[in-house]
Amino acid sequence: GAPVTVNISKIEPGQQITVEWRGMPVWLIRRTDEMVGNIEKLNDKVKDPQSEAPQQPDYIDGILRSLRPEMAVLVGLCTHLGCVPSYRPEVAPADLGDEWLGGLFCPCHGSRYDMAGRVYTAQPAPLNLQVPPHRYDDDVTLTIG
Ligand code: FES
Repeated sequence: GAPVTVNISKIEPGQQITVEWRGMPVWLIRRTDEMVGNIEKLNDKVKDPQSEAPQQPDYIDGILRSLRPEMAVLVGLCTHLGCVPSYRPEVAPADLGDEWLGGLFCPCHGSRYDMAGRVYTAQPAPLNLQVPPHRYDDDVTLTIG
């Protein structure tokens, strides 16, 4: 499939949009400072905090799993059986409980991911969400693929 180029300038802080790449939904999330801060707080609650499993290109490392702290770029398919998770940015909503600091929730079998796409421990999904190959061509232009 061809690379996909997206203008990200209209994505508001806290907003998530979906673009299609190779028939898959790719999620772009502009993370707020609070969301970025919450990722670090979850290091001992996720299965693979440093993403040692190869679920991202080599140039993506660290706990934020992104080239820019504020922008998450994730394939929006659960690593369990491939359902599309729901974007649940709110902290401690009634249905997800006090420990929920915002992230992605899979409605199929309940897998939880944080705002870096890292899967919480004791979930059916085995791996963090995939980060697709991508680059920034300039401040507002992202190319996936
Ligand atoms: Fe997401 Fe099973 S497909 S938890």
